[in-house]
Amino acid sequence: MVAEVLVTGGAGFVGSHTVLVLLQNGFKVVVLDNLVNAVSEGPKPEALVRVEKLTKKSVEFHEADLSDSKALDDIFSSHNFECVIHFAALKAVGESCQLPLAYYRNNVAGTLSLLEAMKKHKVHRLVFSSSATVYGDPQYLPLDETHPTGQGCTNPYGRTKFFIEEMLVDLCKAEQQWQVVSLRYFNPVGAHPSGQIGEDPLGIPNNLMPYVSQVAIGKRSELQIFGDDYDTVDGTGVRDYIHIMDLADGHVSALERLLGSDPLQGFNAINLGTGKGNSVLEVVAAFEKASNKKLKYKIVARRAGDVATSFADPKLAKELLGWTAKKDILDMCKDAWNWQVQNPNGFRSSDKN
Ligand code: WQD
Repeated sequence: MVAEVLVTGGAGFVGSHTVLVLLQNGFKVVVLDNLVNAVSEGPKPEALVRVEKLTKKSVEFHEADLSDSKALDDIFSSHNFECVIHFAALKAVGESCQLPLAYYRNNVAGTLSLLEAMKKHKVHRLVFSSSATVYGDPQYLPLDETHPTGQGCTNPYGRTKFFIEEMLVDLCKAEQQWQVVSLRYFNPVGAHPSGQIGEDPLGIPNNLMPYVSQVAIGKRSELQIFGDDYDTVDGTGVRDYIHIMDLADGHVSALERLLGSDPLQGFNAINLGTGKGNSVLEVVAAFEKASNKKLKYKIVARRAGDVATSFADPKLAKELLGWTAKKDILDMCKDAWNWQVQNPNGFRSSDKN
């Protein structure tokens, strides 16, 4: 019997790469996505059309919002899901500071609606897309899962992830049948090696890698580096960048540990990171090597809310999931560049942003 998995937000960057790996591992996948952050010029979002071509397998797609409890009911009633992988969320840190209610409504209330549907349909296994941003400003490094969460987490986006984790902790305490893995991503970057799917931000990229990639292709004139006066190797911010394919594999490892013979029970927070930090200037150098392009940049003021350094202690993922990241920063830059070159306008057929 093929195990069925519901993937919310499966048309997004992390979601689409995870759907691809799920299909390659023999899972049947149903995707629910409201397409607020995806490109769709037909009945299915372009990212999923390409995933189907790459895997030669089909994905069932439903355009719906998590707030639509009837749509959720219909989807759960017509399937027998072994697990839900929950990516659907608004994820722009800066935007969340301008629109906190939209973020709490979409991310927190949306998750609540999903959990109620899961409970009603007796689906009690969840892999949740969380973020290292719940740790706030690191009190120590590397960050392990016992580091306090919530306190230093200042932006509403990160706080939605924190509040959702707290909801899941309470749910697992109240009802023993729940099996939850909350994956705390560090900085997901790169693309599938085929260059057919990748990160496709709408408008001006907030994050470093897609911005660097657009400078390299000539879409942006120069990179603004937010501060070079941090207490780091070269003064620029240090982050734990993780290849999107390693991240996708981490989700399948978590799923297999929930379904396996020695299943995880209750609430389990697990870091997905490489355990290695790279500075902004190191990323620029790696991208120049990967693309054979000289990148123009300018040092400007620090960005509000940025921490100096963040990188993972990845031990628990190895211990509980048998997972470790395999790809390095050069692999990430090569695959990000390959996606950029093959898709100058992302999934759009023409330059609409
Ligand atoms: C990385 C480094 C910047 C852009 C955020 C979210 C996190 C996750 C990943 C969703 C920092 C510097 C960046 C630029 C720059 N998102 N930078 N110029 O802030 O670590 O994490 O994205 O899940 O939750 O918090 O990632 O890529 O924005 O920044 O100098 O144009 O690059 O200062 O040091 P961040 P980032």
